[in-house]
Amino acid sequence: LSPSSRAWCNRNGFYYVSQSELAIKPPLWLLAELTYRCPLQCPYCSNPLDFASQEKELTTDQWIRVFEQAREMGAVQLGFSGGEPLTRKDLPELIRAARDLGFYTNLITSGIGLTRKKIADFADAGLDHIQISFQASDPDLNAALSGSQKAFERKLEMAKAVKEHGYPMVLNFVLHRHNIDQIDKILDLSLTLEADDVELATCQFYGWAFLNREGLLPTRDQIARAEEVVARYRTRMERDGVLTDLLFVTPDYYEERPKGCMGGWGAVFLSVTPEGTALPCHSARQLPIEFPSVLEHSLKHIWFESFGFNRFRGDSWMPEPCRSCPEKTKDFGGCRCQAYMLTGDAANADPVCSKSPHHGKIIEARRQAECASLDIHQLQFRNRANSQLIYKSHV
Ligand code: FES
Repeated sequence: LSPSSRAWCNRNGFYYVSQSELAIKPPLWLLAELTYRCPLQCPYCSNPLDFASQEKELTTDQWIRVFEQAREMGAVQLGFSGGEPLTRKDLPELIRAARDLGFYTNLITSGIGLTRKKIADFADAGLDHIQISFQASDPDLNAALSGSQKAFERKLEMAKAVKEHGYPMVLNFVLHRHNIDQIDKILDLSLTLEADDVELATCQFYGWAFLNREGLLPTRDQIARAEEVVARYRTRMERDGVLTDLLFVTPDYYEERPKGCMGGWGAVFLSVTPEGTALPCHSARQLPIEFPSVLEHSLKHIWFESFGFNRFRGDSWMPEPCRSCPEKTKDFGGCRCQAYMLTGDAANADPVCSKSPHHGKIIEARRQAECASLDIHQLQFRNRANSQLIYKSHV
């Protein structure tokens, strides 16, 4: 062990970090996208458009091996997501393995397929946290967006059951032009269900949401009204001593500076797709970069050595205006996936930034939002048939 190397110990023994690895911190967050199967069809899903062409899934043992390696490297948070992770029959086994390794575990679910028995099994396996997503605050809009008439009642019932089991519960509402005007009703529902945290996250335009951007992006007026409502509820909740944490995320399409996506490329976050591709963010699969598979390489090699994870680390890859920008240590040039989707080159500055020569694309999207249709049926829903059509049209 050289003097400049570091070592730490966990339950599996010592883990050594070589000098070359010292500059790169290990991942903190592992997102396990267990499957692309899902009973719902939300038009803002962040899964890849061609998900139907990706049917393979890692086995239980292969996932557990990924968890072990991530934990050995120092990751502490593990999110089970998808698709709908509840479609995996081995979910209790995966939760137990992750918990035994010492992860803080979070199930990110639509609630469809959840039962009281499963909630009890997950609790027994050691699950720490459950996040349930709703499409809207009323059954009709919820059904129109999710494609399931029964989804709303089911979600309500399961949200109550999650609380009864004593879980800290996050309710997540993805906001867009079709539901953002009912934000007061969404908040009323969340408070009635006694959510510990409420995430009101305006659509991030990746995957299916990008395909449907024109029909989903709220107008500036809608955002401003929603902000007023949230501020009013915050004041009232504080006055009444309500402990629910309220997070309202506005779309970066109305910002002048980009978000520091993922806390930086290959900095804290590692995502693994159902068939085992390791990615620095959930959307990177679309980039013209070959990302490594956990079936072929160790997670340690992938994180520290692979081309894909090193491609946008640091700032030496940055062109102007990012390279000389004093804010580059805060926003890292913005989102690589967004730069790719909007300009065709992932190394460009994120067009959200008003200094970007491509910022006009964002201004045009805002303009389109002002006159876009409010007809939900014009959206392209995330289902196998649409995915197969899209896949065929691209090969
Ligand atoms: Fe991929 Fe932002 S979502 S870098």
